[in-house]
Amino acid sequence: MSFIAQRLSYFDSSDFRDAIKKQALLHNPIDLSIGIPEELTPDHVKAAGIRAIHEDKTTYTPANGLPELREALAAKLQNDNKIYVKPSAVTVVPGLTTGQLLVYLAILDPGDEVIVFDPYYPPYPHLASMVGARVVYVSTLPTFQPDIPALEASITDKTKLIVINSPNNPSGAVYPEATLRKIAAIAEKNNILIISDEIYEHFVYDGEHFSIGSIYPNTITMNGFSKEHAMTGWRIGYIAGPQEIIDAINELQQYVVMSSSSIAQHAAIAALRQKPAHLVAKYKAKRDLIVERLGKAGYDVKGAQGAFYTFVKAPHNLTDIEFVERATEHGLIIVAGRAFSQLHGYIRISYGADIYTLERGLVILEKIAGELAS
Ligand SMILES: Cc1ncc(COP(=O)(O)O)c(C=O)c1O
Repeated sequence: MSFIAQRLSYFDSSDFRDAIKKQALLHNPIDLSIGIPEELTPDHVKAAGIRAIHEDKTTYTPANGLPELREALAAKLQNDNKIYVKPSAVTVVPGLTTGQLLVYLAILDPGDEVIVFDPYYPPYPHLASMVGARVVYVSTLPTFQPDIPALEASITDKTKLIVINSPNNPSGAVYPEATLRKIAAIAEKNNILIISDEIYEHFVYDGEHFSIGSIYPNTITMNGFSKEHAMTGWRIGYIAGPQEIIDAINELQQYVVMSSSSIAQHAAIAALRQKPAHLVAKYKAKRDLIVERLGKAGYDVKGAQGAFYTFVKAPHNLTDIEFVERATEHGLIIVAGRAFSQLHGYIRISYGADIYTLERGLVILEKIAGELAS
């Protein structure tokens, strides 16, 4: 009998284990699978981290983060997002992935229902299931925009939470303000909390980012430094929301996290002082290239208004796994859509990679489309 707890079954990746094994054997693959921006952590951010080490700022910090960082984050939320919170209503976490679990542990009881738009960032449903909540999926196909009547129809008296992620991983969809206002009205009417994961807020190429937390106080806004500041390995993010919920998360942090890295926190303070404004034009150019080339090759590309992913239907009714295996045979790594969706016919392509890698990957995707058409 296995010693492993039942809750681990929610992370079952047996469906793609073979595909991942084959990808691991590739020599010098073209990798369009990962959610890592091509940039390196900016020099001034690295310098701040190094300075923190030299100045022996290497002990635990308060569980909710350094006061000066939380003050800077409250100011950022006010200026950029029109979310007015006190520094006490902001907590620093070791990345949003851990943050997601902390929020769930703080607010969900077994049997509570959580609405997740499909496709989704994988931890949203899996961690919710792991804490005993019931996940209710609301499809966003075919446009990847929330279907408001479908959302309303999925609400029951057990619904506690709606999870929103705009700009979206994996579809790249950006939800317009009007849609978010409708979602906020539904949440308010039914007394439902909202989580808004805004980690890609600066990667918007069509439309504008809007923070639902600016109009709906029962929003837990999550954001981090991994993408915009190219700090995926520093493990640093933050959560802002109703004081009662932030206090509960802080209590949990004492036991689960103790404190986020002091070095990463000092680096984050430096990161907040300088926005990497050049990123948007650079990523928009990559987005335009991918949409144009995939479209010409016959792929049906929707969404892709933001973040750095596109979620595309595998042509000729191939399953995602079949398509990913074909790509692997050509030396290209992409992710099977079932990691992000209840559907099994989509693939996720990341354009976090540099343009040279992206070009090489596109050539292969064009080739596969041609092979399938002939
Ligand atoms: C939507 C979304 N949220 C959160 C994360 C993870 O953030 P962090 O690095 O802060 O854990 C990712 C990473 O890919 C993501 O796509």
